[in-house]
Amino acid sequence: MGLLTGGGDCPGLNAVLRAAVLAGTQRHGMRFVGFRDGWRGVLEGDAAPLTEADVRPLLARGGTVLGSSRTNPLADGVEAGVRRVRDSMARLGVDALLAVGGEDTLGVATALHEAGVPVVGAPKTIDDDLSATDATFGFDTAVQTAVEACDRLATTGASHHRAMLVEVMGRHAGWIALHTGTAAGAHVTLLPEEPVDLDAVAATLREVLERGEAPLVVLSEGAQVLGEQALRTAERDAFGHVQLGGAGEQLQRELEQRLPGVSMRLTVLGHLLRGGTPSAADRVLATRFGLSAVTALAQGRLGTMAALRGVEVVQVPLAEATGVLRTVPPERRAETAGLRW
Ligand code: F6P
Repeated sequence: MGLLTGGGDCPGLNAVLRAAVLAGTQRHGMRFVGFRDGWRGVLEGDAAPLTEADVRPLLARGGTVLGSSRTNPLADGVEAGVRRVRDSMARLGVDALLAVGGEDTLGVATALHEAGVPVVGAPKTIDDDLSATDATFGFDTAVQTAVEACDRLATTGASHHRAMLVEVMGRHAGWIALHTGTAAGAHVTLLPEEPVDLDAVAATLREVLERGEAPLVVLSEGAQVLGEQALRTAERDAFGHVQLGGAGEQLQRELEQRLPGVSMRLTVLGHLLRGGTPSAADRVLATRFGLSAVTALAQGRLGTMAALRGVEVVQVPLAEATGVLRTVPPERRAETAGLRW
């Protein structure tokens, strides 16, 4: 079996690898290789054996020991990509793949499955925006890290009677911002899913300051502060994504204009949320995804992906994973609408 991790990393990837290798070896007599750097390793046949001894220490380790990349093996066409993947698997004696990734990696896995390549998937993204699963590992850790940061920023903000602005990851879905804002008691939380009313944000900050408190604002990197997402560069990666960046700076500039004399500081948490050791909940979810995926491989349930549905881990068709993004729905946003925290 060939394992790979693709796309942006997140805490828990190594826990999936550990569970898959241990269960696959012990229960099904499988042998594993790990491809380096996602689909790049598959295309180039860059792989090394992964044994029980290799993966046992990995449960709590952040990142991915296999490395990751945003290489798209289908960039030169599906037929050519499928041929290269098949050739590489045949050369290495790999019968089937377990791809751990987000919508891009799993999108490739879906296309490979449709072309007859034996593959199963396991979902990951700290953004928690895959519609086929109720949760992805990495999200819980990211929110915990962001909340700890906000708690710290709130105390220094209070000392200086300052507004603290905190930008978190979240490209199209504002789950990280929503949960961080809720758990940290932010006065304002701005998501990619809804327009930003700068005058209303400024009014809230003024009110909080007049109460003698220090305002805390949490915003997603994908929030549309000036009516569209802020881009670091318009250049696109192999999957057609632009690089976001600058939403927090835009917000600070706009609020400073509306609130002259109010001291403000911005902290961009960015990749800090993707690093480090996974939370206990993420270790459990990642382990269950690894176990489910390897069982599916053993039972020949190819073209499927591990998914959390309620409290059960099930295998769902890979195609579902990449169908629609799970964004924060209006009902969820309405829960807190109009409240002054
Ligand atoms: O999709 C996960 C994510 O962390 C997004 O929230 C973010 O926009 C993107 O990855 C950043 O990716 P990179 O590692 O390429 O900077």
